[in-house]
Amino acid sequence: MEPILSLQNIYKAFGDRVVLNHVDLLIEPGEYVSIVGASGAGKSTLMNIIGLLDQNFTGTYAFNGQPLSKREHSRFRNQHLGFIFQQYNLIPSLTSKENILLPCAYASGKIQEAEQTCERMLREFGLEKQKDQPVNTLSGGEKQRIALIRSVIMDPEILLADEPTGNLDEKSGRRVRDFLQEMNLAGKTIIVVTHDLEFSNEAERRLKVEGGELHELS
Ligand SMILES: Nc1ncnc2c1ncn2[C@@H]1O[C@H](COP(=O)(O)OP(=O)(O)OP(=O)(O)O)[C@@H](O)[C@H]1O
Ligand SMILES: [Mg+2]
Repeated sequence: MEPILSLQNIYKAFGDRVVLNHVDLLIEPGEYVSIVGASGAGKSTLMNIIGLLDQNFTGTYAFNGQPLSKREHSRFRNQHLGFIFQQYNLIPSLTSKENILLPCAYASGKIQEAEQTCERMLREFGLEKQKDQPVNTLSGGEKQRIALIRSVIMDPEILLADEPTGNLDEKSGRRVRDFLQEMNLAGKTIIVVTHDLEFSNEAERRLKVEGGELHELS
């Protein structure tokens, strides 16, 4: 099978600190991959490159076998990648619904469908009453559920999550993990960074960032 993502010879340094020393990463469609490693090893650096949030690296980045040029990065990110962050990254003054629909702003054709998905998911997550509330008035767990809905509103093939349970209590953390498993069962490719061993073991494939290299853990 053709890898859905193929990163090759990725090199990233901050000044003379080499964080990723020519690493390769091939991800198959539908895989659930976790990335572990010590603090400062370069997990977020790698995730930011996989997510094209950081485009300042050398090496090649291909989707379904097609190398992407820098020019194509932003559009690709918007259409094919979903993100879940530890700090939610919601816009405080906007309402729940506005935050969820934000990724659709550049995809006019998808807006109607997205609004329906948004309403349905708000119901499923028990957030109907909160939909027009500014997110800075929501509880932590509610914000996190809004962030989960937002991550899939564009129906991305690939979901990226960097320490998505880092700030959460047991129950909310469990919800994030269940959500990722469900999305994987529904066919999405999942890549997650976590310090939690039990969580990382829920992935079918585990990788470790260490000494600028990326290793497969059995
Ligand atoms: N913008 C930057 N400028 C300089 N150094 C940076 C920058 N961003 C990251 N680094 C350094 O790169 C290294 C890798 O950082 P990174 O955030 O990827 O680690 P991490 O594995 O995600 O750690 P943690 O588990 O603590 O989140 C660290 O030593 C960090 O200090
Ligand atoms: Mg990190």
